[in-house]
Amino acid sequence: MKNLLMEKVVSLCKRRGFVFPGSLIYGGLANTWDYGPLGTCLLQNIRSLWWERFVTKRDDIYPLETGIIMNPRVWQASGHTASFTDPLVECKVCHQRFRADHEVPESGDHKHDLTEPRSFNLMFETHIGPVEDTSNAAYLRPETAQGMFVNFKNVLTTERPSLPFGIAQIGKAFRNEITPGNFIFRTLEFEQMEIEYFVHPEHWEEAFESWKESMWKWLLDLGVKEENLKWRAHAKDELSHYSKRTEDIEYEFPFGWGELYGLAYRADFDLRNHSEKSSEDLMFTDPATNAKFFPHVVEPTFGVNRTALTLLLDAYTEEGDRVVLKLNPKVAPYKVAVFPLVANREEIVGKAREIYNGFRLRLSTVWDNRGNIGKRYYAQDEIGTPWCVTVDYQTLEDKTVTVRDRDSAEQIRVKIDKLLEWFSEKLK
Ligand code: GAP
Repeated sequence: MKNLLMEKVVSLCKRRGFVFPGSLIYGGLANTWDYGPLGTCLLQNIRSLWWERFVTKRDDIYPLETGIIMNPRVWQASGHTASFTDPLVECKVCHQRFRADHEVPESGDHKHDLTEPRSFNLMFETHIGPVEDTSNAAYLRPETAQGMFVNFKNVLTTERPSLPFGIAQIGKAFRNEITPGNFIFRTLEFEQMEIEYFVHPEHWEEAFESWKESMWKWLLDLGVKEENLKWRAHAKDELSHYSKRTEDIEYEFPFGWGELYGLAYRADFDLRNHSEKSSEDLMFTDPATNAKFFPHVVEPTFGVNRTALTLLLDAYTEEGDRVVLKLNPKVAPYKVAVFPLVANREEIVGKAREIYNGFRLRLSTVWDNRGNIGKRYYAQDEIGTPWCVTVDYQTLEDKTVTVRDRDSAEQIRVKIDKLLEWFSEKLK
């Protein structure tokens, strides 16, 4: 039943233009996906809401946008060259590769004969310039975080922040995962929304607790069902090389509980190592006492694509023969659909066009005049459009339209000149 949910969501995503398999006309490329018009709107809404909440509305968080390719010394200092590895085993018969710390799926025709585990570095390597040799090797960043540590001093000198403060960034990260899969859950290329929150070393625990609350509330405000979420603390032996304490928010995906976001206490691991390896002074000077120290870091990290997957799975509902994506209106690709009841009455089509054109510039709005009204409602339900506006014969008499609600399927009449206000109120 649960895996059926994943199949249904994958199929809906492809059919309606949320997510397409990558490079499909060339037979695809495993574990790469492209986002269609609706998926692109969904991702953009997730990013904007996150940015508004954690950057724009806060005066203690500074935005940044750093390069995907960085000096390879960054990854030596950060510990990624040596430690960003997964244990890999390979079947000597079929040469399939698996993570040694995950259950190995059985093969139909043979028993896997596995090699001893060896460490496999997950960073994608590339070369700068025309000649490939070890001296010009570079990496696609496996996390956006390092761009923020490397620019720590630039932010200090240009913004002069006091502690605690954060640096935030949204951007792509790349990992040569051994076992990618489960649709857009684990891919080779993905996007992160990360904050490095710098605190006085004595205050990391309160910052950690406060971020736990903020991350949880963000998900509930997006409309994710609380019963599908839980916190899971990492055991000592599964902590990343930089972390002293990590807790993940897990979501109950159709394939089981899985990491959605992470919250890590990185202490002064990154600033101290970059300071040592670059010989730049990355300490903070307390203006009151002149004391110099490395601030400690609490890092909330959010996957954009895993957020999209969670929202789609969580919102997918079947009611009789109706499929409804009960997305929070704030993340829904379209907020409103506008229809003329009939296609052959000029005044009705004209009025509907007028409303559509007026809305389009203020709200994400879609036009539909195909098929009958019932079919149009179903088509909008399936992509999560919260409201449908229909212009009909009565509109010509009293300047009202029908507004139909996605979740209740109820219809009410609203005056045209009150419509925008009505929607704005609902979207607050
Ligand atoms: N800077 C810390 C860091 O990168 P992480 O737990 O390795 O921590 C952060 O990654 C988040 O990025 C995860 O919680 C998840 O949402 C997302 N993520 C990680 N690997 C991913 C992958 N292969 N595909 C899609 N999303 C991924």
